[in-house]
Amino acid sequence: MSQLYSMQDVLQNNGLNGSFKLVSEMGTSQPNWDYVESLCCLSVKNVSYTVSEHVGPWWDLPSFRKKWTRQILNRVSFHVDSGQIMGILGNSGSGKTTLLDAVAGRIGNSGKLLGEVFVNGRKLKAEQFQDCFSYVLQSDNLLSYLTVEETLTYTAQLALRKHSSEAIRKKVTAVMAELSLGHVAHSVIGGRIFPGISGGERRRVSIASQLLQDPKVILLDEPTTGLDSMTTNQIVVLLAELARRDRIVIVTIHHTFLAYIIHILPFSIISVFIFTSFLYWTVGMNPDPVRFVCFSAVVMVPHIVGELLTLVLLGVVQDPNMVNSGVALLNIAGIMVGSGFLRSFKQMPVVFQWLSYLTFQKYGCELLIVTEFYGLNFTCTPLAGLPGSCLMDSGNMIIDQGYPGALSRYTQDFLLLYAFLPALVILGIISFKIRDHLVRR
Ligand SMILES: Nc1ncnc2c1ncn2[C@@H]1O[C@H](COP(=O)(O)OP(=O)(O)O)[C@@H](O)[C@H]1O
Ligand SMILES: [Mg+2]
Repeated sequence: MSQLYSMQDVLQNNGLNGSFKLVSEMGTSQPNWDYVESLCCLSVKNVSYTVSEHVGPWWDLPSFRKKWTRQILNRVSFHVDSGQIMGILGNSGSGKTTLLDAVAGRIGNSGKLLGEVFVNGRKLKAEQFQDCFSYVLQSDNLLSYLTVEETLTYTAQLALRKHSSEAIRKKVTAVMAELSLGHVAHSVIGGRIFPGISGGERRRVSIASQLLQDPKVILLDEPTTGLDSMTTNQIVVLLAELARRDRIVIVTIHHTFLAYIIHILPFSIISVFIFTSFLYWTVGMNPDPVRFVCFSAVVMVPHIVGELLTLVLLGVVQDPNMVNSGVALLNIAGIMVGSGFLRSFKQMPVVFQWLSYLTFQKYGCELLIVTEFYGLNFTCTPLAGLPGSCLMDSGNMIIDQGYPGALSRYTQDFLLLYAFLPALVILGIISFKIRDHLVRR
C-alpha cells in the first residue's frame, strides 16, 4: 500500500492546511463527471459527525427532554492523490463506516455533519457526491441465483442506461477481465443453501459491479473482513492495482488487537535499537557489547509496554488524548513507586512496597543497575577523591546497597519484566473482545 493510515493518524492529521488554503481560494465551481475524468486528488477537511438522541421514550417526559450527544467523527482531515490507495484502520465502532459514509455523502440526517469534501481542489455539493464516488458496502448484496456475468450485465443495464447493449457487453467483459473473473463468468453466485463461487470471488463481483461506471474514487468498507489471509492478500493487491490506474481507492480495514501488535512491533524493536545504540555509546555507559545488548533488551520492554497499555486502554476509553496522558501518568507513577530511585523500598509505606511488585519499572531498574555495575572494581585515591568516595570499592557493593539481592535475581527479573508483555497482550485481547461485543449489541 502506498499510504496506510491508522484511524488515529487520520483523526490527528492536521498537516494539510497549506493545500486546503489553496482549495478554498479556488472557489466552489461545479465539478462534473467530465472534469473528474482527469482526477488529481481528493481532500477531506475537518469532517465531524455528532448524533444526539433523547434519553428516554416520549411518554417519560422528563427523560425525553434530556438528550445525549455523541461525537462519532471529530475533525477528520486527509488528502489522497490519484493513483494512491488509503487504508483506514480501526476496530469495531471506531467510526470507519461513518467516515466513508460522510465522505461519500451517504450519511443520513439523524446527526449533525460538518466539514467539506474537495475533489481536484473544488468543493463538492451534496448532489455531486453520487457521481464522484463508488461505494462497495461491507456485505455483498448479490442475488444468489444469477451467474457472475448476469449479475454484472443487469447491474450495467441499470447503471449505464444510455449505453448500447454492445457497449454494455464490452464493459462487462472488460471489468471481468480486470478483476480476473473470466473463469467464473457462467458460475452462479450461490448462497447459504447451495454452493457457488468462493467468498473472495463474491467480493470481487461486488467490486466489479461498482467498477462498471468507471468511478475515479472507489470507497470500500472492510473488503477484507471475513476472508482468509490468502484471499485478503489477493484483494489488497487487486485494489492497489486498481488505484495505480489513475484512481483513488479508500478502504477501511477492521483491525484486531493482534493485527495492531503485528503492525507496531517491528517498528518498536527497530526504533528502540536505534535509540539505545545512540544513547548507550554517547552517554559513556559500560563499553561492553554484551551489557549493551542487555541494556537494549531492558529498555525495549517499557517501550512496548507503553504501546500495549495504550492499546489496552483504547479498547475501553474512546478518547486517544485521554489514553495518551493516562499512559504517561501511569508510567510516572510506576517510576515513583517501582524504581527505587527517589525513595528506597524500605522507606516506603508497606502498601507501596507491595504495589512496587506490580510495576515493570521495579524489575527494569534493578536490571539496568546490575547490567551497568556488575563486576566493576573501582580504584580508590582517597586524597584526590570526594569525601566518602572510598566507601564503595566495587560495583557489586553499589548494587547491594541500593537493591539488596538484585545480583541473584537477574534472570528472574528478566523473566518477570518480559512477562508483562504476554499479560498485556491477553488483557488487550480481552478488552477489544468486550468492546467488539458491546458495539455489536
Ligand atoms: N446514526 C447514528 N446514531 C447513533 N449512533 C451511531 C450512528 N451512526 C453510527 N453510530 C455509532 O457510531 C459508532 C461508529 O460506528 P461505525 O462507523 O459503524 O463504526 P465501524 O464501521 O468502525 O465499526 C458506533 O458505536 C455506532 O453505534
Ligand atoms: Mg463498519
